[in-house]
Amino acid sequence: MPEITRRIGLSLGADVCWPIAYTEILRRLDLRIPAPEGELRFDVERVTIKPFDLRQPCGYDVVIDRLTQWYDTTREWIKKSVILDDLYVFNNPWSVQSMEKQTTYCALMRLGLPIPDTWLVPPKAYEPAADLEVTLKRYAELFDIGAIGDRVGYPLFMKPYDGGGWRGVSRIEDAAGLRAAYEESGKFVMHLQRAVEGHDLFVRCIGLGPQTRAVLYDADAPLHDRYTMTRGFAAPAELQLLRDLTLTINAFFGWDFNSCESLRSGGRWIPIDFANPCPDSQVTSLHYHFPWLIKANLRWSLFCAATKRPMRKTLDWEPFFDACQPGMTPEERIRACGGIAKDRLDAARFEAFCAEHLPHLDEVADEFFRGPEARDAIRQKVAALFPEHEIEEFTGLFFERVQRACAEEPPGSLGPLAS
Ligand SMILES: Nc1ncnc2c1ncn2[C@@H]1O[C@H](COP(=O)(O)OP(=O)(O)O)[C@@H](O)[C@H]1O
Ligand SMILES: [Mg+2]
Repeated sequence: MPEITRRIGLSLGADVCWPIAYTEILRRLDLRIPAPEGELRFDVERVTIKPFDLRQPCGYDVVIDRLTQWYDTTREWIKKSVILDDLYVFNNPWSVQSMEKQTTYCALMRLGLPIPDTWLVPPKAYEPAADLEVTLKRYAELFDIGAIGDRVGYPLFMKPYDGGGWRGVSRIEDAAGLRAAYEESGKFVMHLQRAVEGHDLFVRCIGLGPQTRAVLYDADAPLHDRYTMTRGFAAPAELQLLRDLTLTINAFFGWDFNSCESLRSGGRWIPIDFANPCPDSQVTSLHYHFPWLIKANLRWSLFCAATKRPMRKTLDWEPFFDACQPGMTPEERIRACGGIAKDRLDAARFEAFCAEHLPHLDEVADEFFRGPEARDAIRQKVAALFPEHEIEEFTGLFFERVQRACAEEPPGSLGPLAS
């Protein structure tokens, strides 16, 4: 049987720990997967940045991309590779480039989900541009920001329509506070969004292909404690709803890897931020959940590379809209859309692929995470972020949390689609 190498590229920025874990576990897996065309072997390599001929073929089958959202050269190389060379990349670069928070709010409103009341307001200040003055003089209506705040209701959140990483987010209690905050808001195009009050749970649900992991999130904790280690914090039916919601959003926008935030208030789940298509993957934030992420990433990228999964280049929204009929409750809508999402994300074929070709992944990963190379990868990330005198302490803390995950989720205890 001829040996065929499938090549996976990692397009990275400041990532340190996860590529080390990913690469080392893949090496130890030593995969040989029989396929009609030969025996598949897998190679992983870090993508470098360089000038490229638009007609130069792409040497990768799959690229895991962390740069598209801010680094144009790589994004354009990826886009040409998808169009000309049938590269499979996650995430879809056109979708990452064009789908801001604003679009995701609109999409979920259209699907009939309970998005808090939200207004978009023009910015307070502008970059100079040739036609700016004449355009604003002719067409920009004067408005009273306080009156809009009254319509939305207080407290509210003012936050950029394309935000991320809590940049420019403020909680506002009254009209005076809103006026002051808007005066200071500079060139941001802002949303004013009614606050979801009195929530008892805040969840971040990570989706990677058809795999999900719902994590109870503590927004008030220091960065390294925000992803909590609490499991089973909601009823199974609620967790299933959050998973279906995440898969719906991801399939709708063509994001294989994304994380969705929802708050539970008065027994209802309210999505508030679900455009995070370059989710935090660092052990310094994920700690306990880091092994899950690495395994999920390996499973999905290997499935895509081995099966030559075709990448969906355009987004097809009508089936989601059609699935949401008048009279359906939000929960019924999420379930219906979740079914479409699972089909689009090949959940059944993926599960069968993992059972047949990756039965040893859990064992191999477990051995890696318990060993000195995992500790060293953690240390490297900690050293990049923490002051010198905290490196030992935090390396120990994160390694210990990873050990706890190994003990609580031993090999074989979670199927690929359980979270
Ligand atoms: N409507 C809202 N109700 C309650 N809290 C909110 C709301 N909008 C934002 N927040 C709070 O502000 C944080 C940042 O807002 P978010 O929309 O997630 O922006 P970013 O994309 O910058 O993370 C959220 O994690 C949450 O704690
Ligand atoms: Mg957020």
